Amino acid sequence: MAQPPENPLAKKLHIKTFGCQMNQYDSERMAEALAPEGYALTGDAAEADLVILNTCHIREKAAEKVYSELGRVRLAKERRRREGRDTLIAVAGCVAQAEGQEIMARAPAVDIVVGPQSYHRLAALVAEALASGKGVVATDFPAEDKFAHLPERSPGKRRPSAFVTVQEGCDKFCTFCVVPYTRGAEYSRAPSEIIEEAERLGAQGAREITLLGQNVNAYHGAGPNGSPWTLARLLRRLAQVPSIARLRYTTSHPLDMDEELISLFADEPKLMPYLHLPFQSGSDRILKAMNRRNTAADYEAVIAKVRKARPDIALSTDIIVGFPGETDRDFEATMALAARARLAQAFTFKYSARPGTPAAGFPDQVPEAAKHERLRALQSLIDGQRRAFDRAMIGRRLPVLFEGKGRKPGQIAGRSPYLQPVYVEGSEAHVGQIAPVDILAASPNSLNGVMKSGFEWREPVQAAE
Ligand code: SAH
Ligand code: SF4
Ligand code: F3S
Repeated sequence: MAQPPENPLAKKLHIKTFGCQMNQYDSERMAEALAPEGYALTGDAAEADLVILNTCHIREKAAEKVYSELGRVRLAKERRRREGRDTLIAVAGCVAQAEGQEIMARAPAVDIVVGPQSYHRLAALVAEALASGKGVVATDFPAEDKFAHLPERSPGKRRPSAFVTVQEGCDKFCTFCVVPYTRGAEYSRAPSEIIEEAERLGAQGAREITLLGQNVNAYHGAGPNGSPWTLARLLRRLAQVPSIARLRYTTSHPLDMDEELISLFADEPKLMPYLHLPFQSGSDRILKAMNRRNTAADYEAVIAKVRKARPDIALSTDIIVGFPGETDRDFEATMALAARARLAQAFTFKYSARPGTPAAGFPDQVPEAAKHERLRALQSLIDGQRRAFDRAMIGRRLPVLFEGKGRKPGQIAGRSPYLQPVYVEGSEAHVGQIAPVDILAASPNSLNGVMKSGFEWREPVQAAE
């Protein structure tokens, strides 16, 4: 006979997360905000009393995924109803913010639509939906600061690598992008709040913290006496948290890479040698039409400075192909910039026209076939660069932060300073430790090696000659 559940009153919560790392962070915070209401996480949507889809609006494909997922969740809701159980369905994230009420019209099974700036109201919205039996929508940009109203990070063990949102929203209005509309105006959290959160995560087992923001390097939090703190200052302060061994930040904008931040790559051993710096296009004409406000040469000047500070930096980027008006010549300029940038990694996208953005109405939309062909060529160039970067690790000893099980029994997986997945034979007792690994092989998306011993790696990572 099945054991009775530990707490028969406990309700189950299932969260499915789409999109970027900020959504992953938000999902954790939503789960923590609902825990005091008696909701415990489950991996199984079919047994959940509350299902949250945390959605992404960045490209059409991402946004459409939500509706196919909603179809599945609705079937589970109907099945549960036949068994006499209710299910609440909530749509959160950037599609919720962008489409609001429309979601309810298109998918009537949805009970709650909640935008990213209203997560501190989630518990109240759930109570309201339960009490009224009607759909509730929260997509205004409230005047209060959600972080001040969200419950503190809950106790419990953390994974070795944690995210902390430090900056949210965007005022840059690139002509292709929905983020300024879905996340609202640029906002930086107070340094004291971030330091406290990092200390708490560290005490719970996190060894690495990645600071998140749509334009993380535009961070400008107000310090104790009202003085503005830059991202560099925040990173230097966080490096003093003893339990935190590694720091990263993402995503940066080329315009906001100031000298102080660049010099941290040389001066701060806890800052990992990895930089995600999108350039989007190598053509100045297209960059202008995108409203990126920098040229390809500006971008190269920034990466030259970064490389001077940290010669072994792993440079990552985002590139869009097929922006309206992009000619073969513009695309060649993108290929040429990608080739000169010596990338360790890149995320490449076909331009997707998004409702409400200026570029969606631009003339000369590029045909799908040309986008497809350009993406293929670009990806093949970048694959080559990534493989070369990974192959250069063979024979090196790298400090690896172990994060969990590997792909095979007896194997564990971690990350190099350059964010490459690394697999070694080893016991799970090493999870949460940073140990030296001799890299023996590079496969297309990961490295393999042997752990030198179980001891903790204590020295800072050395820059390559
Ligand atoms: N704030 C970051 C980007 C956030 S969105 C920055 O400014 O670089 C992540 C990436 O999605 C972008 O860098 C861009 O390459 C891509 N992207 C955004 N809107 C897009 C669109 N409409 N079509 C295709 N790719 C898009
Ligand atoms: Fe979007 Fe541009 Fe803002 Fe990045 S900087 S989030 S691409 S508008
Ligand atoms: Fe997507 Fe919103 Fe992130 S649109 S990429 S989930 S900020």
